[in-house]
Amino acid sequence: MYDATRTDTSWVGLYHGNFQNELKGKKILELGCGDCANAAVMAAFGAEVYANDISQKPGEIINKLNTSHKFEFEIKFIKGDFLKADIKNNFYDIVIGKAFVHHLTHDQEVKFTKKIVSILKANGLVRYFEPAINNKFLDHLRWLTPVPGRPSKFQRRKFEQWRINDPHPERDNSSKHYEKIGKKYFEETRIVPIGTIERFHRILPKKYSRRFRRFAFKFERKLPKSINLSLTRSHLIEYKIPKKQKGT
Ligand SMILES: C[S@@+](CC[C@H](N)C(=O)[O-])C[C@H]1O[C@@H](n2cnc3c(N)ncnc32)[C@H](O)[C@@H]1O
Repeated sequence: MYDATRTDTSWVGLYHGNFQNELKGKKILELGCGDCANAAVMAAFGAEVYANDISQKPGEIINKLNTSHKFEFEIKFIKGDFLKADIKNNFYDIVIGKAFVHHLTHDQEVKFTKKIVSILKANGLVRYFEPAINNKFLDHLRWLTPVPGRPSKFQRRKFEQWRINDPHPERDNSSKHYEKIGKKYFEETRIVPIGTIERFHRILPKKYSRRFRRFAFKFERKLPKSINLSLTRSHLIEYKIPKKQKGT
């Protein structure tokens, strides 16, 4: 955990500001819990974790986690589509999404946000870690650079085939987009860019990668926020205090 929150982008982002210290005793819902690694980490820090995923698999992982580890609170699995799940209103302190929201269309995101507003307590918090696309030029370069599992845009046929099978919807992943959602549904919004310098680790030989990333995450905090926002690869998104409708 110590190493991951200093080196691995999604952990650096989600746990930015020593978030682990805010977890003990909190009721937390994690959306799209996937492999449940983060649900397990939060439970190990003393949170009462409810983990949701549309896939059945995380339910099996959670059963194994609960048997193999004595958490203060057993992790509960909420099966199925979040929008259809029966979830208590005004119940959660925190809602978490790690690499989750960019899988939603804009329409789904609005529906998710409205439901999150009603299930959160009055002083509730949302914390997402997501990829950021704030700079068109860098985004263009990204598509031209092949990475494992994704061909370069130069390889036209292969790229088109990849695009057809890509599970991510066409959507706005910019910090501005998240700010807009935050302002509409919450009293406070905070965006922390993560990965301005770290993103270049891909051009280095693998053996230097982890050392470079640790250095980059520290160094980029010294850059002005405007530069970080423009060049960042990902961002932590925080919404606080849901704007509740009367009766919710
Ligand atoms: C990219 S994975 C992220 C997994 C994990 N949070 C992580 O950081 O590795 C997205 C997850 O969201 C889940 N998912 C997608 N749509 C969903 C929905 N409508 N309700 C609940 N889970 C959903 C998928 O099954 C998948 O496990």
